Amino acid sequence: MTVPRSVATRLLRAIATIGVAGVPPEAQKPLSIVTGNAAEGEAYFNLKCKSCHSPQGDLQGIASRVNNPKALQNLWLAGTVRGAANKAAVATVTVTLASGAIVEGRLVHIDDFLVTLKLPDGTSRSFRRNGNLPKVIVRDPLQAHKDLLPVYTDKDIHDLTAYLVTLK
Ligand code: HEC
Repeated sequence: MTVPRSVATRLLRAIATIGVAGVPPEAQKPLSIVTGNAAEGEAYFNLKCKSCHSPQGDLQGIASRVNNPKALQNLWLAGTVRGAANKAAVATVTVTLASGAIVEGRLVHIDDFLVTLKLPDGTSRSFRRNGNLPKVIVRDPLQAHKDLLPVYTDKDIHDLTAYLVTLK
């Protein structure tokens, strides 16, 4: 069965206007991501973030430095958006070989079978892993950020962002 063109056109026009006609004008503005409760965000901050950060210290003026709330949210969720340029956020690794020799550098990759690091001279080295051999110790300054990611509820995220945007 074919639908007469006039009907199809009318239908398409109707679909195109659905969601606009029935929605109050204020809801049609671009969505703001700052929808949370700043006071509750502050309480959450004091609980989960204060051991490493301070609104009067390292995070003072963070909302002026990163004045786009979406970018600020991405920043605090990840802990950094500057990657290796942010030395304070770079994971390092120490590998102790069976011979007792110690190799240290920036962590490039690690899984159960392989660890790869970048040495201070810029070269990379990989070591096969077999259980606890060689001995591998990773220090990741952003481990807390990674551990928290699956813990946040949507509300925690909205509240924290609402709080952090007040740190002008
Ligand atoms: C165990 C320590 C630790 C905890 C807990 C922690 N962070 Fe971080 N955070 C860091 C480290 C390390 C960095 C990367 C170094 C830096 O830039 O300060 C970082 C970076 C950041 C940055 C970017 C700072 C900048 O100037 O670029 C923000 C924002 C941030 N964290 C917010 C939070 C929030 C919000 C929480 C709580 C939900 C939190 N952090 C929990 C250690 C932590």
